[in-house]
Amino acid sequence: MANRGILDDTSLLDLLIKDLDVANEPWRITPYWETYHDRLIREIRKSGLKSLQNNYKLLKGFASGGPPTVITPNNNLKRSIFEIVPRLPVISKIFGEYNRLIHALYRQNIRLSQKIATQALIEIEEQLGALEVFGELTVGGSQEGFEYQKQSYVPTFVNYLARAADFYRFVPMEEVTSLIEIGPGLGWSTIAHRTLNPYLRTFVNIDLPATLYISTQFLKAVGGLKVINYAQYLADGKQISQDSGEHPVCYQLPIWCFEDINIPMDWLHNAFSFQEMEPNVVAAYAKHARSIVKRGAWLLSQTEGHKIGAGGQKKQVTYSVIETAFSSFLKREEVNLPKISKTFFDIDSEISRLYRVNNS
Ligand SMILES: C[S@@+](CC[C@H](N)C(=O)[O-])C[C@H]1O[C@@H](n2cnc3c(N)ncnc32)[C@H](O)[C@@H]1O
Repeated sequence: MANRGILDDTSLLDLLIKDLDVANEPWRITPYWETYHDRLIREIRKSGLKSLQNNYKLLKGFASGGPPTVITPNNNLKRSIFEIVPRLPVISKIFGEYNRLIHALYRQNIRLSQKIATQALIEIEEQLGALEVFGELTVGGSQEGFEYQKQSYVPTFVNYLARAADFYRFVPMEEVTSLIEIGPGLGWSTIAHRTLNPYLRTFVNIDLPATLYISTQFLKAVGGLKVINYAQYLADGKQISQDSGEHPVCYQLPIWCFEDINIPMDWLHNAFSFQEMEPNVVAAYAKHARSIVKRGAWLLSQTEGHKIGAGGQKKQVTYSVIETAFSSFLKREEVNLPKISKTFFDIDSEISRLYRVNNS
């Protein structure tokens, strides 16, 4: 299977990190993401993005891909120990055997997830007609690609495609011409909506510098979107404009740009990232979203959030914390949203919820 690499753009990464230094609260990294963020920056600088989709260390925490490996600590001394010990005589044999097992299980798991994804694709096509993949989904060294109807997919993507297919059972595609996503991670949901909805012309993705950088370079490499990175956005005077060109436009912006967005957006989306912030950050997103979101929000989160103190999080973000933050302008629509994503990816209607803007 073809495997183009993903280009690095260290000047973009440097710019994001420099501007993060002077960003104001609450547009900074919250405790849960601090260790992840440092680890990601270190791994980006060390390995680059060429083999992103086969680099577990780069994807762990917001996407999947590559054989699992030990995530080493950020502390230099501890990290050296993690790196040296497995190379010691005898111990290296034991580690080698575990590695062999992990690789075998990984291959088996991939074969299984390809089969599940194929079944999900059959159901998605039954609902929405034949799919057309517009870009190269295996870009960046994915070893997980598989063929369905003569097109290449990766299993992870099908999960996001199933989520989006479920969303469009209740929301007409014409209603979603612009979509703003908070914390999209790698950008699979952008690709899923781009695949399914021909009316979508403007995406705005908001994320932390490290994830945003990875996702920006990834989406550019996949193709089929006019990606505007942070540097370009600044150079254009922070303007967001609808594009009438061949491809929809996709703005890739760091969190501190959120409050500068002043054009109307049809829908807002968040999946599993509010639950990793602090309540005051979620409230800040909700406060500004009220002035730009015109139709509704589609959220995915665990009802009780992460377990107390996970990753150093100070206050738990349950679904009720999120709902309260958005309650001044959004009202939940009681629909059973997950269907394909329920069957194949275990997402239930308590996790995936639809909210409409309350115009009364
Ligand atoms: C668990 S991942 C979810 C990724 C993706 N939405 C998905 O469904 O797979 C959490 C995401 O939230 C992002 N994130 C963490 N803190 C954030 C913040 N304060 N503002 C925006 N995004 C944030 C992370 O960078 C990451 O992309």
